[in-house]
Amino acid sequence: MDTETKVKEIMLHERYEHSLGVRDTAVMLAETYGCSKEKARIASLLHDVARDMPLDEMQEILRKSGSHTEISKEIFQSHQLLHARAGKEIARKQFGISDADVLRSIELHTTGGKSMSVLDKVLFVADYIEPGRIFRGAEEGRKLAFQDLDKAVLYIFKSLIGELLKSELFICKSTLEGYNDLARVGK
Ligand SMILES: [Fe+2]
Ligand SMILES: [Fe+2]
Repeated sequence: MDTETKVKEIMLHERYEHSLGVRDTAVMLAETYGCSKEKARIASLLHDVARDMPLDEMQEILRKSGSHTEISKEIFQSHQLLHARAGKEIARKQFGISDADVLRSIELHTTGGKSMSVLDKVLFVADYIEPGRIFRGAEEGRKLAFQDLDKAVLYIFKSLIGELLKSELFICKSTLEGYNDLARVGK
């Protein structure tokens, strides 16, 4: 069974539709910025594979794989943050994905991170701007995405960090590192 069919079987309909939107967008961005379209396709289809799983199931998957030891307690307790880590494990175990670039882009799709590759950025941006995204900011992200990938990534970090600050929510180290990679250094 191919990845798309398998994903469709296990994902909620809405999530599957979102994944197809991310896939189409990511493939266009990969074409524009010269990274592998096939890696972008697979990473997009699988990036939210754990999104609708209960937190304790995700934690169990990560405990079994042993990778929980590398995850901070804040991330381990957050459904929103942990789904990217669990998704990476499911991609590896259940979908047989061994490509380190694909797995890393799945891992970073929610938080971003230090030294993001073009593929990491493509998935990060596509997740934010796919056609099903109608929140404020998605339109600006869409405009930037095909002009300058780094500017689009920076824009997303800015809005993400802004939202987190507004709600006094925890900000991942990797989000700050990803932001700082692209931010200007003040005088
Ligand atoms: Fe996600
Ligand atoms: Fe997503």
